[in-house]
Amino acid sequence: MRIAVIGTGYVGLVSGACFSELHNEVICVDKDASKISVLSRGEIPIYEPGLQELVIRNMEAGRLAFTSDLQSAVRQSEAVILAVGTPSLPSGEANLEIIEQAAREIAAAMNGYKLIMVKSTVPVGTNHRLQALVASIAKFPFEIVSVPEFLREGSAVGDTFHPDRIVIGADRSEAAEIAAALHRSLTDRIFVTDIRSAEMIKYASNAFLATKISFINEIANICEKVGADVTKVAEGMGYDRRIGHSFLRAGIGYGGSCFPKDTQALIQIAGNVDYEFKLLKSVVDVNRDQRFSVVHKLRRIFGELEGRTIAVWGLAFKPNTDDVRDTPALDIVQALVGLGANVRACDPVALPNFRNGFDHERIAWCEDALEAADGADAVCLLTEWPAFADVDLQQLRQRMSRPVLIDGRNLFSAEQLEHAGFIYSSIGRPA
Ligand code: UGA
Repeated sequence: MRIAVIGTGYVGLVSGACFSELHNEVICVDKDASKISVLSRGEIPIYEPGLQELVIRNMEAGRLAFTSDLQSAVRQSEAVILAVGTPSLPSGEANLEIIEQAAREIAAAMNGYKLIMVKSTVPVGTNHRLQALVASIAKFPFEIVSVPEFLREGSAVGDTFHPDRIVIGADRSEAAEIAAALHRSLTDRIFVTDIRSAEMIKYASNAFLATKISFINEIANICEKVGADVTKVAEGMGYDRRIGHSFLRAGIGYGGSCFPKDTQALIQIAGNVDYEFKLLKSVVDVNRDQRFSVVHKLRRIFGELEGRTIAVWGLAFKPNTDDVRDTPALDIVQALVGLGANVRACDPVALPNFRNGFDHERIAWCEDALEAADGADAVCLLTEWPAFADVDLQQLRQRMSRPVLIDGRNLFSAEQLEHAGFIYSSIGRPA
């Protein structure tokens, strides 16, 4: 199939590259001409394992190209994937200006029937509004189907090739069948439903996963008070197949470009129809508070943090990405600086992005974990990068002025750290 992909963010770029690997002819479009020239050289503006090799291989095979000319990309394609951003407005609602503009441009560019597959996360009802918008401009037949995306950053390529399911929302079964045919080599678990339900599946899935995380974080907070171990609790719960083991890792809460945005948007979607989504509001509140749990732990050890030096290990919202959007590290570093601490921060790949968004005279930007720990009163681990687990604990202890490690992601074990002479505190586990 010849496919135009509009938007080269995570979803657009990864989907475009993966569909080209499956021997479709893909042309990826972005308004940002400088991004297109970077991509056309085979360079990837984001850190995502496996993506660059995939892009280069398919560009060389002549199946993948990049352009900022939306019109010609749409004209030479049978299907269009819409994967532009839907960022949050200050109210929490999704901002649909970009996707509406893209839909207008697609409509104006059409030269025959097009199947438009919407992968952007959009509030319920949006695809029908886009349908009306395109119909008011287009001179050719078209169909819109909702194909929400469930890939995770850091494992986006693997997730795209091995999805748990593909959800297709369509008004007509013929349109659903074309979209299903495109995805059939990825999985046979293709769930076809109506458009509104497909839109809701995306929000409900992210909200449910966020709920699991806030739930286990509250259990962790109680475990700390009653002397239980949340990792054992989560493991024991997860053997119940109705519960499962995934998304029950306690820590400093979720961040990133999806859960924070989509939970707020779903609260708004509900609010717009006079429904107060109380459970999800609590999930969001718990997540905000959870970020500061590491700061409270530091204060319990040191009292005031004024003048203390705190090493911060990890700035990305999760490992294997350089994405710092709504990363818990931002709230935590800002709180530490606000309390008068000196911060020594490091991250294997996300440091430049983080520093672009927040810099301060009391933050030293460090190359690696040991350099960050130099002279520190405590290490605060905020992202569970595997490299941090490999740090030599004896060297670490020698370089710090006090051997305190606050583990916001339960990466280490208490035995390991206490054996190495550290004062160790983690989330929801006995000290
Ligand atoms: C999430 C969903 O997992 C994807 O299915 C979805 O497609 C994507 O949002 C999206 O809507 O685009 P992502 O945000 O990339 O993917 O990353 P996750 O692996 O889900 O992690 C999100 C956050 O939750 C991270 O900050 C992570 O540290 C945290 N988390 C995750 C926990 O604190 N505990 C867990 O057990 C799991």
